[in-house]
Amino acid sequence: MHLIDPGSAGEHVQRAATLLQSALGTVPVAAGRASGRVNLIGEHTDYNRGLCLPLALRHATYAVVAPRGDHLVRAVSTLAPGTYAGDPATATGWAAYAAGVVWALREEGFDIPGIDMAIASSVPVGAGLSSSAALSCAVAMAVAALVGPIDPDVLLRATIRAENERAGAPTGGMDQTVGLLATPGEALLLDFADGSRTPVTWAPPELALLVIDTCASHELSDGQYAARRADCEAAAKALGVGSLRDVDEIDLQSAHGPWLPLARHVVTENTRVEEFVQAVATGEWAEAGALMTSSHESLRDDFAVSCEQLDVAVETALEHGALGARMTGGGFGGSAIALLPRDRLGEAADAVLAAYDRRHWRKPRFLLT
Ligand code: GLA
Repeated sequence: MHLIDPGSAGEHVQRAATLLQSALGTVPVAAGRASGRVNLIGEHTDYNRGLCLPLALRHATYAVVAPRGDHLVRAVSTLAPGTYAGDPATATGWAAYAAGVVWALREEGFDIPGIDMAIASSVPVGAGLSSSAALSCAVAMAVAALVGPIDPDVLLRATIRAENERAGAPTGGMDQTVGLLATPGEALLLDFADGSRTPVTWAPPELALLVIDTCASHELSDGQYAARRADCEAAAKALGVGSLRDVDEIDLQSAHGPWLPLARHVVTENTRVEEFVQAVATGEWAEAGALMTSSHESLRDDFAVSCEQLDVAVETALEHGALGARMTGGGFGGSAIALLPRDRLGEAADAVLAAYDRRHWRKPRFLLT
């Protein structure tokens, strides 16, 4: 089984620094790093003031920066050809996530100079592993290192604003929270009602979490994500509450509306997060796995954000020893995760490769958390 290697921080920072010098003739003076993530459980809950449990990957994005004498941003990346140069308020494409942070920090009242920046990353792009948020967060960390300490909550708000207001993806904040605040291998229980962030020990004995990048296309700003979010808000309104966090399964028994399956997913998913945290704490790994699989079924059947490639990855992993498996992240493609006995990792990965090959789908890729 070929695994995507996270590489070392030194190697990525060096690649970014070399690019900054060769493409823009600039010597970097500060650097920032932010992890990609998988979400263990709690999907499409963050923008409903709910619970989620993301885990930071060792795969990360690195930004190196230097100040300019004007207010412009120039950005280059080892992942994309060409140079972005312009006013950060008008950046588009991947540059909206990078330059957009400079725009957002200025909007927050910080006097940020023009910046030359270069990016290198080991987070696979478009795999639903938060490559976009890792980009914004790495730039935010590098800019903070350049201009002096900035409160982490301000950085969080700025990175969310870059994605929501500049890149046009109305995401909920889970990914940026991990990118800025979690150390690699750390799981954080996030409660979007009270804003709490609680580290959860994630060290399943004899088990490993296999990440399967389906390589099926995944794009959060294409309207489907925004539509789900708007429908959840409509559901809360119809139920007469501020958010779906204020609803329980009993409230839904007598409810009617086209949004009912969506609301049911969000309500049951919050409960699954609580039960999962409990199962992890007490070492009930079979129970934790079963909750992951029910989360997937709920996302597939009620929230309707899975796809064939994700379903086949999950089903195949379950047939080959996984205690549980689910899609992770926003859905519509992207990655699945499977909780597997270490000695069956290779078997499960080979089975997924064979299942995709039989269907003539793009070859999936794998990484370990
Ligand atoms: C994407 C978003 C997150 C979250 C997940 C779904 O990753 O960026 O804010 O909504 O989808 O749980």
